[in-house]
Amino acid sequence: MQFDTIIKNGTVHTSTHSFVGDIGIIDEKISAVGGAGQLKANKKTKVINAKGKDVIPGCIDVHVHLALPFMGTVSCDDFESGSRAAAVGGVTMVVDFAAPTKGSTLQQAHEAWCEKSEGQSLVDYSWHMCIVDDRHLSEVPRMIKQGLPTFKEFMIYASQGWQSDDARLFATLELMNKHDSMLLVHAESAGVLDLLIRRNHTQSKMKRLGAKLHAMTRPNYVEAEAIERAIRWCDITNGTLYVVHMSTGEGADLIKAAQSRGINVWAETCAQYLTLDDSLFGKRDGHLYACQPQIKKKADIQRLWRALDEGDEISVVSTDTCSFTRKQKAMWKGDWTKIPMGLPGLETLVPIMYTQGVREGRISMNRLVELCSTNPAKIMGMGVRKGHIAPGYDADLVVIDPKRTITFDYRKSQSRCDWSPYQGMKLGGFAQTTLVRGSVVVENHKVVGKKGHGTLIPREHPGSL
Ligand code: URP
Ligand code: ZN
Ligand code: ZN
Repeated sequence: MQFDTIIKNGTVHTSTHSFVGDIGIIDEKISAVGGAGQLKANKKTKVINAKGKDVIPGCIDVHVHLALPFMGTVSCDDFESGSRAAAVGGVTMVVDFAAPTKGSTLQQAHEAWCEKSEGQSLVDYSWHMCIVDDRHLSEVPRMIKQGLPTFKEFMIYASQGWQSDDARLFATLELMNKHDSMLLVHAESAGVLDLLIRRNHTQSKMKRLGAKLHAMTRPNYVEAEAIERAIRWCDITNGTLYVVHMSTGEGADLIKAAQSRGINVWAETCAQYLTLDDSLFGKRDGHLYACQPQIKKKADIQRLWRALDEGDEISVVSTDTCSFTRKQKAMWKGDWTKIPMGLPGLETLVPIMYTQGVREGRISMNRLVELCSTNPAKIMGMGVRKGHIAPGYDADLVVIDPKRTITFDYRKSQSRCDWSPYQGMKLGGFAQTTLVRGSVVVENHKVVGKKGHGTLIPREHPGSL
C-alpha cells in the first residue's frame, strides 16, 4: 500500500488493548495497522516517529459552548480559538449546543451554528439541538435527517428562556423512543434552587459571603432530585437519556441504580468535577469559578473517580467549556446571581485525565481512551467512523510524549480566556502531534493546521455502546 503517512513504532492504545506498532494512513482514513516496523514507507510517505510515545484515537469533547450568547454576554472562545485549544489538547472533535433565540426554530439555530463554525474550526464538530419551546418537538425528525440526532433540555434557566417543565421532558423522551434519538439533560431542581437563591440573596449575606453563596444555594440534592425525576420519565417513556455534567456522588448512585434496572440512561462528568472543590469559592477571585452545576466537595470528587475506575455509571468525561474572561466575570459586581456561569477547559481535558487519572494510577490508558474517545463517539452516534484505531476509521490520531510535563499557564494557551482554573498545575498529556482526518494540525505542540479544516460530521443512532 502507498501510505500518505505512517505513524511508526508508537505505543498504541485503543479502549480495549495496547500494543507497539505502526498506523498507515491514506487520505483521511486509517488504512492499515501493523506491528512495529511492519508498514513500509515510500518516497512520498510522511513518517512520524512515535517510538516511546503514546498514540491514541483523537478525543471528542461532546460538551462545549463556543461563542454562546449567555447571561448577558457571549462566551469568549469561539470555533477558532476553541478548536485550536482542542487540537493542542488532543481533542479532534467537539460537539456544541445549538440554542435557538427566542421565537426561532431548531432549523434556524442549526443554520446559525453552521454560520458560526464555517471556515473557523481546526477540528471536526457537530452540535446537539436545544429544545427550548414546545414547537421545537415537531422539528425532531427533520434534525435527525440532517445528522443531528441528539437533543438537549435544561431543567433550570427560566431567565434565559430555556427551562423545560416535566411535560416537555416527558414528551421529548417519548419522541426519542419513537425516533431512535437521545435527550441530554441539564439536571438541577429549579423550584428548590430558586427558593434557596431567594432566601440567601440578601445584601448582607452577599457582602459577607460573596461567591461562597453560590455553593450554599446548590446542595447536592438540587442535582440529585432532578436526575431522579428525569430518570423516572425516561423509564416510563422508554426513552434514552444522557445526564450532562454530573457533579455529585448522589448522581452516580442514581445512574448506577437506574442502569441496573435496565433504564436507558447514560451520564457524563467533566474534568472540573474531578479536580476542583468548592473551597475555591473562598478565594479572593472565587467568583471566577462559578459554573452550573457548581463545583462540589472532595467526597464527590472521590466518588466520581471511583465510578470511572470501577463502574459503568459514568461513560464519558467532557469539559462543558464555556469560557468567560475576568472582565466578563466582573459583571457580577458582588451579586453572585449575575456571574456569567462557566469555565474554560477544552485544552486541559486530556492532560487532566492523563495526569490525574493515568499517572496517579486511577485509570488505565485504555480507560482514558474509552471515556474521552470511544464512548463519546459511540453514544453520540458516530462510532462507525470516530473513536477507534482500525482500518476504515477517520485518521484522527494524537501522539503524546509520556515524559513531558508542563506547568500550565493560560498566557501560553490557545484559549482567549485570561485566567484558568488549572493555572500553575503540573500537567502531562498534551498532544505533541495531532492529526484530524489524516492532516497534521499540531506538530511539536504547535498549531500548524489552518482554520476551516474541521467539518460538520453527520451522526446517527445515538444512545448505545
Ligand atoms: O456554567 C455552565 N455550565 N455554563 C454553560 C451552560 C450549561 O449549563 O452547561
Ligand atoms: Zn448545563
Ligand atoms: Zn453546558
